Amino acid sequence: MSLPGTLGAMCGIVGYVGPQDARDVVLEGLRRLEYRGYDSAGIAVVADGRLSSVKKAGKLANLEKLLAEQPLPAATVGIGHTRWATHGGPTDRNAHPHLSADGSVAVIHNGIIENFASLRAECEKNGVEFRSDTDTEVATHLLAAAYAQAAEGPGRLADAMRAVCRRLEGAFTLVATVATEPDTLVAARRSSPLVVGVGDGEYFLGSDVAAFIAHTREARELGQDQVVEIDRHRGLTVTDFDGGAVEPKAYTVDWDAAAAEKGGYDRFMLKEIAEQPKAIADTLLGRLGPQGELVLDEVRLSDQELRDIDKIFVVACGTAFHAGMIAKYAIEHWTRIPVEVELASEFRYRDPVLDRSTLVVVISQSGETMDTLMALRHAREQKARVLAICNANGSTIPRESDAVFYTHAGPEVAVASTKGFLTQVVACYLVGLFLAQVRGVKYEDEVSAIVADLRRLPEAVAEVLAGMAPVRELARSLAGANTILFLGRHVGYPVALEGALKLKELAYIHAEGFAAGELKHGPIAVIDEGTPVIVIVPSPRSRESVHDKVVSNIQEVRARGARTIVIAEEGDDDVVPYADHLIRVPRTPTLLAPVVTTVPLQVLACEIADTRGLDVDQPRNLAKSVTVE
Ligand code: G6P
Repeated sequence: MSLPGTLGAMCGIVGYVGPQDARDVVLEGLRRLEYRGYDSAGIAVVADGRLSSVKKAGKLANLEKLLAEQPLPAATVGIGHTRWATHGGPTDRNAHPHLSADGSVAVIHNGIIENFASLRAECEKNGVEFRSDTDTEVATHLLAAAYAQAAEGPGRLADAMRAVCRRLEGAFTLVATVATEPDTLVAARRSSPLVVGVGDGEYFLGSDVAAFIAHTREARELGQDQVVEIDRHRGLTVTDFDGGAVEPKAYTVDWDAAAAEKGGYDRFMLKEIAEQPKAIADTLLGRLGPQGELVLDEVRLSDQELRDIDKIFVVACGTAFHAGMIAKYAIEHWTRIPVEVELASEFRYRDPVLDRSTLVVVISQSGETMDTLMALRHAREQKARVLAICNANGSTIPRESDAVFYTHAGPEVAVASTKGFLTQVVACYLVGLFLAQVRGVKYEDEVSAIVADLRRLPEAVAEVLAGMAPVRELARSLAGANTILFLGRHVGYPVALEGALKLKELAYIHAEGFAAGELKHGPIAVIDEGTPVIVIVPSPRSRESVHDKVVSNIQEVRARGARTIVIAEEGDDDVVPYADHLIRVPRTPTLLAPVVTTVPLQVLACEIADTRGLDVDQPRNLAKSVTVE
């Protein structure tokens, strides 16, 4: 038996009302949300006073096959869903939409309804028979009952939705449509993502803007605990759960539709790796004000509040956490403020010491990661200041933060992050410099000199990318490895962790990253004849002879049979005798080096996965935006 409370989690949501054929718009939207990761999909449309729906386990191709056999009627209203199951089987019956007993109400859902068990018991007591193991189905039956009781006339479905939402606990985005209202869609959100797209006489709903940017770039942000009613003729009405009117915040999406297409590449990931020079350049664009001062996107904190900060936490998940680890080296060095880096899922539950003079920097490409969002909320409850580094405009995390720095990476579609990561690292540098400047620990000319170094990074990354043919060849020879180890020191250590994570995510090969200095304290025992060990070598110009120590580490592993793959700066000849394979990167200042040394590791992981015949854009078991804790 599955655990219904955790079903329906990462899901993609699409809705449409307008003159186009809803079947096509919804299916196309689902295709654009595929990258979020899913294991079943479904669609419902309303036409001629009837609701028709089709749903199927597996990828969209399965749903399309079924649609060819059981076509839906042309319609002006439709909803669609891709479901990512966290527990329990991704079966046809658990796929969304879920329909009321009489088939007149359809609901799709993302999130977790925590009090679903008691609500289900209540529905069952009233004679409702459940047809799935999901928590979503409870919302469907409650909505059908509330709709039956609500006063007839305009706003009836929204009234019913508000009544249901007031009873739900947990996190949810719900979208509903009803057979008798061919021009109406109603949606609600609490702690799960939902954005509204506004076209010319047509409206879209999406888990993110990728669902509709091919149609419109005009969007409305929905806040926490809000219900939106979309009526093709009456337009858009937003209220809170009690019916109080709310003016939604309008914004224009600055990503163009083409940016979310593969653009001639076979894989999104290859395209996104190739886009990194531009993504970094865009993230750096316009950051210096008229006096040479650094500017962030939204700062709701005074300079005095920023000067009062005496401790920084960087909090994130997955790849973004590795960006945070790099941030620690740079921000501590430049600001002299102690920095701790913590996984978002751990941070909140260990009762961290936070107060008004603590700055919590949360990093999230999607701006929707539930662990990170919960850490942010905990930090704010404790009165800490929160600065968000995010890529997705209009997402929840920036909205709830005191200050925001947007990375301008454009849409990142491949599940495993590449350009998102490099731009997060660059954003962390800028945030560190910004703080150093506000607090007066760095002069403007010192900041400008580092910004000039940052501005050279796009070219350096382009140079690395241009020389990747030998790395691809090497990858093919590594595709059969059982284990690959990554070693790094100083900022090379998080790079080693990120290299190992990329390989696990994409190629499903066991990989681990270690701090090179820790090798002798344990990990060296796993090295055997032929074990591939990838070493990220610091610049020979780095302080405290860390370079020489890493060169010694290469010798140590080689002496124990390792096959050494060395990433080193151009001109570093010390490594040559100990490298079975040598990957050169351009000379880069020590703290900024991760931006160039990460790139060959991304290419390597991608190529190994490809050689193994794996889907690099949508690796098994992973989701792009993890909206459950
Ligand atoms: C998921 C993705 C990772 C990503 C992490 C954090 O686990 O699969 O690639 O690094 O979430 O995502 P965020 O959107 O918060 O940066």
